[in-house]
Amino acid sequence: MVMVSQFSTPVKGASTLPGNYYTAEDVFQQEVERIFYERWLCVGREEQIPNSGDYFMQAVGQESLIIVRGQDGRARAFYNVCRHRGTRMCTTASGHFPQSIQCPYHAWTYGLDGRLIGAPHMNEVEGFDKGQYPLYTAATASWEGFLFVNLSRQPEPFEQAFAPLIGKFSQWQIAKLRSARRIEYEVAANWKLLVENYSECYHCPLIHPALAALSPYRSGQNDLYEGPYLGGFMDINHDSGSLTMDGRTCALPLGEVSGEDLNRVYYYSLFPNMLLSLHPDYVMFHLLWPQSAGRTLISCEWLFDPAAMAQPGFDPSGAVEFWDMTNRQDWHVCELSQLGLTSRVYTPGPYSAAESLPAAFDREVLRALE
Ligand code: FES
Ligand SMILES: [Fe+2]
Repeated sequence: MVMVSQFSTPVKGASTLPGNYYTAEDVFQQEVERIFYERWLCVGREEQIPNSGDYFMQAVGQESLIIVRGQDGRARAFYNVCRHRGTRMCTTASGHFPQSIQCPYHAWTYGLDGRLIGAPHMNEVEGFDKGQYPLYTAATASWEGFLFVNLSRQPEPFEQAFAPLIGKFSQWQIAKLRSARRIEYEVAANWKLLVENYSECYHCPLIHPALAALSPYRSGQNDLYEGPYLGGFMDINHDSGSLTMDGRTCALPLGEVSGEDLNRVYYYSLFPNMLLSLHPDYVMFHLLWPQSAGRTLISCEWLFDPAAMAQPGFDPSGAVEFWDMTNRQDWHVCELSQLGLTSRVYTPGPYSAAESLPAAFDREVLRALE
C-alpha cells in the first residue's frame, strides 16, 4: 500500500470550487440527482432494526424511504409512496410494522417484502392484478454493520463500488459494535464544506486546540487520496491514548487493533455522505443529509464493543463530549465559510499542501456531476 504524507503537494494550482457550487439551488439539485440519487448512501446501522417489522425512515433529496426488516431477516428500502394514489404512507420516524405496511388513505396493504397483499374492493375492477403493484424499492446493501441504500435505476453493484474498502477495516470488527450515543446537528452550510473540513487538519491548531494537543496536526499519512474514498491516519501523542476529554481511552482496544494502530486515528470520507473515524477504542461515524445548498443535517454516532458497554462503570462520555465539542467547532467555522462564499467578491482560493484531500474530494464531485 502506498502511503503519502498528509503534506504531499496537491495537483499544482488546485483551488477551491466556484461560489455557485455552495450557494446555487440549481447546482444543488444536480448534486441530488447525479450524486444522492445515484451513489450508495449509508443510512445507519443494522442494529436499528433488529427484528422483522422494525423500520426507520430516511429522506434523500425529495424522496422518503422506509427501511424495514422483512420476515426473512433482510433489510429492504421502499419508497414511501402508495401504489394506489401515491400517498405518503408512513409519517413516524421509526417504529414497528405488525407484519404489513398499510396506507392510511384507502387501506391498501403491503407485506414487509413490498408485495401488495390487500386492496379493498379492487377485486371488483376487471383485470386488476395485485401482483402488478408492489412498493417501489431502492437497492440495499450491508457492510460492517452499516446499512446502505442506492436510489439509482441501475445501481452499481455494492461490492464493486466498495471494493477498495471491503476487508480494509477488519481489525476493528466494526460489524459487532453497538451504538452508545447519537447526536443530530443542523448546520447552515453546504454539505461539501463539511466534507472538505473533515478532510484536512490545516485548521486544527486554531479551531481545535484540544484536538491538536492530543494528535499532532502535521502527523500521519493518507493511503486513499484519489477517487470516492479518501483518508488516512493521524498519530495519537500518548500510549493508551485516544481522542477523549482526558486523552485516555474509554475502553479496551476494539477487536484485533494492535501495534501502531493503538496510537492512530484513521479518518475516511466515503463519498458522498459518510465520514468514518476509527479510534483504538471506539468508532465514530457522521452521516450528512443535504437539505438545500446552504443547509445540512448531520448525525454523529459513537460505536463501542458491546462487551465493554456491559462492564460496570463503562462511560463513553469522554469520547462523546470530545467530539461533540470538536463537531461544533467545525460546524461553526463551516457556517462562517458559507457566509463568506455567498459574497459577490468571493473567488476560488488556492489549496495548501495540507489540503490535498479536499482538492481530491472536489475533483470527485466534479466527476460525478459531469
Ligand atoms: S392512496 Fe394509498 S390506499 Fe389509496
Ligand atoms: Fe475540524
